[in-house]
Amino acid sequence: MVPVLSNRLKACCQFVRPGDRVADVGCDHGYLGIYLLLSGVARSVIAADVNTGPLDSARRNGEKYAVADRMTFCLSDGVSSLPRDFDCLVCAGMGADSMISILSAAPWLQDSRYHFILQCQSKTPALRRYLTDQGYSIRRETLARDGKFFYPVMDIVYAPGTVLSEAECYLSPGLLDSGSDLLIPYASRILDGLRKTAAGLSSVGGPVYEDKLRLIAELESMVNLPQGRKEEDCT
Ligand SMILES: C[S@@+](CC[C@H](N)C(=O)[O-])C[C@H]1O[C@@H](n2cnc3c(N)ncnc32)[C@H](O)[C@@H]1O
Repeated sequence: MVPVLSNRLKACCQFVRPGDRVADVGCDHGYLGIYLLLSGVARSVIAADVNTGPLDSARRNGEKYAVADRMTFCLSDGVSSLPRDFDCLVCAGMGADSMISILSAAPWLQDSRYHFILQCQSKTPALRRYLTDQGYSIRRETLARDGKFFYPVMDIVYAPGTVLSEAECYLSPGLLDSGSDLLIPYASRILDGLRKTAAGLSSVGGPVYEDKLRLIAELESMVNLPQGRKEEDCT
């Protein structure tokens, strides 16, 4: 018996390499790590959470699925109390601000021996900007959809040198190359949001408005969407 994962968490699992020692930071229920162990992908799992309630739930679930002996349960704010002997750090279901503060507190993560699977719930462009500014490079990216929500999932390594334009922080080269069927509906949703913001600025005009229009035009050209196409047309 394997726990049923959301499409979002399944997409995170796709980027785990066979044999990885996985650290799941913000593990909550622990299902991602349990799934990776039961499916034979992960060698071991550190399930970490800043709160005792979720960590206890992960421990109970690890026992229920008979994989607790291959899991380490770690009460930790970000990676502060984490053992460092892992290969892959997964951080899913948190906002960009939390992820940025977790990564910023641990410069030792800036090491090419690790790879990072990040699924951020909000302000993903700001996370992409932060990552590339800090020398992390987005190796691959994909999209998942659960109900009406889209979730970009990134596989990151520390490899300084990548620079992303503002538009690429919204639609990264990794996403454009992902081959995901969700790319067009996701891009359309992003564009709808930006068009609404631009419409709100149109009466004032000025450089912020002009920048927004430029960003919209660049994103439209990146995914070959005709101007004004609505998200509903693409789903
Ligand atoms: C919304 S849940 C996501 C759970 C799971 N990763 C998922 O994607 O389904 C966020 C979890 O992250 C934990 N969390 C929040 N901030 C954290 C931090 N700084 N360090 C570790 N865990 C954190 C919360 O306690 C919570 O269990």
